[in-house]
Formats: sequence, structure tokens, C-alpha cells
Amino acid sequence: MYIKTSLNNDGILTITLSRPEALNALNSALLKELSSVMADAFSNKNVRGIILTGDGDKAFVAGADIKELTALDPQQIFELSVKGQQLFKSIEDSPKPVIAVINGFTLGGGCELAMACHMRIATEISKFGQPEVNLGLIPGYGGTQRLTQLVGRAKALELILTGDMIAAQEAKTLGLINHVVATKEEAMILATKILDKIATKGPIAVANVIKSVNAGFNFEQQGYETEAKLFAECSKTHDFKEGTTAFIEKRKAQFKGE
Ligand code: CAA
Repeated sequence: MYIKTSLNNDGILTITLSRPEALNALNSALLKELSSVMADAFSNKNVRGIILTGDGDKAFVAGADIKELTALDPQQIFELSVKGQQLFKSIEDSPKPVIAVINGFTLGGGCELAMACHMRIATEISKFGQPEVNLGLIPGYGGTQRLTQLVGRAKALELILTGDMIAAQEAKTLGLINHVVATKEEAMILATKILDKIATKGPIAVANVIKSVNAGFNFEQQGYETEAKLFAECSKTHDFKEGTTAFIEKRKAQFKGE
């Protein structure tokens, strides 16, 4: 079990991703659990809003599980990407508002998960990035599309091509996150306050706001398909083997373009 949930009396469901020993990295078991917890939350009438957060004081989520990726063949990597994209799209299309409460590293698939939420509230120590390029890979859970939507093409390209991490304050300036606060406790209080306010509105209007805002981005389906295909293509390369091996061996990768 990698997920803890708690529902308060006001209908706010907190979902905590809990694999602190791997900085909450998303392995397929965690994604499967998240998928089922999310589906239950969407259909549960008692849930009016959702907070998604990571366990521990170091990370929201440090990405897809790199060690698991190295054990998959390119077809399995393609299928994982499509499945992850579908799960994240279901979060983006949730009829109930979802807020990511972020405390620490939010990287790769973790940043992609946060971006699929409707809002993001982070602590000052949080760091954001799409470092897949350091592994000879590209983002595979919608990052090439959603980061571009949030920060614009130039900055998205800079972040994805360099793999650089940015601090919470810069992420806010870029429009990647909504609020920066000092502590996780403050982030939870603010997220709860926002969700409590939304819970006083008509649930049908709330669901329709989300549907309408998202409808304007449906043309990007081709972008998501291309991303999943190229994510799997990258996994066939020597560079991917070198990048992931270097991560596991805690050394710098030497890429050869093959
Ligand atoms: N997958 C698997 N394990 C991970 C992980 C990941 N994404 N991120 C961290 N871990 C593990 C580490 O291997 C380490 O485990 P061990 O103690 O067994 O060695 C443990 O978590 C703690 O991590 P570090 O020792 O590395 O902690 P640090 O403070 O030195 O560094 C960090 C923190 C900068 C976040 C570093 O862990 C890191 O760079 N992680 C990987 C980030 C990354 O590349 N994410 C993208 C993944 S690919 C992806 O997400 C594809 C996609 O789009 C779908």
C-alpha cells in the first residue's frame, strides 16, 4: 500500500502518496492504487474536493520510478506512458477540484502529476523540473504538453532541454504554481480554505467550469500521442541505458547520441 487517504467532515479528501524511501517515485503499483483511489473519489458524493500530497519532508514526487523503467521493454514503456497519461488526464478532468500540496522535490512524473491537478500550492523549499533528459529520455506523462500550457513554449523548452530545477518562487513567477508558503502545514491550511470555498458553490457549476476550461486544450491529443511514442523510442537507445545506469550508480552520464 503506497497511498493513505483521509476524508474530513467537510468533504475534503486528502490523498498522500507514500514511498518516502524512494522520494515517492511513481512505480506501477502506486499508479494503479492512485487510479483506483481517484476513481472512487470522483464517484463518492461525500467528496467535494481533493488534496494530493507526498509523504515525508523531502519530496512531493521525484518522478517515475527509474529503477522500474530499466526493467521494461520499449512496448511496456509505451504502454506505461499511455496509462500514466490517461490517469493524469482523469485527474485533470476530475469534476471535483484537485489541489496539489507540494513539499520538496517535484520532478519528472511528479511535476507532471502536479501539473494535472487544478492548482498547486508549494512550500519555499520545493524544487520543480523535468530532468528526464539527464536519463536520455523525455517526459512521458504529459509534461511536454502541460508545462508548455502553463509557462509558454520558450520557458518549457528551456526547462525540458536543460533538465534544470527551479525553486518555488521562480515556479510561481512563471505560472507553474499558484502559491508559495513557508510550511507544509500552511500549504494544507490554504488548500483546505480554497476547497472549502469552492464547496460552497454549486457542484454542477464547479464541474462545468473544469470541463469548459479543459475543452480549450483538447486539440493537444496529438501532442500527447507523440510524447508517448517518443518516450518509448528513447528507451531503445544506448543513451537511455547509460543515463539510467548513471543515476543508479550515482555518477554523471556520458551520452553518445546512439
Ligand atoms: N526513481 C527511483 N528511485 C528514486 C527516484 C526515482 N525517480 N528518485 C529518487 N530515488 C531514490 C534514490 O535512488 C535513493 O534511493 P537509495 O537510497 O536506494 O539510493 C533515494 O530515492 C533517495 O534519493 P537520493 O539519494 O538521490 O537523494 P538526493 O537528495 O541525493 O537527490 C534528487 C534527490 C535530486 C531528487 C535525486 O533523487 C534525483 O535526481 N532523482 C531522480 C529525479 C528524476 O530524474 N526524475 C525523473 C524520472 S523519469 C520520469 O519521471 C519519466 C516520466 O516523465 C514519466
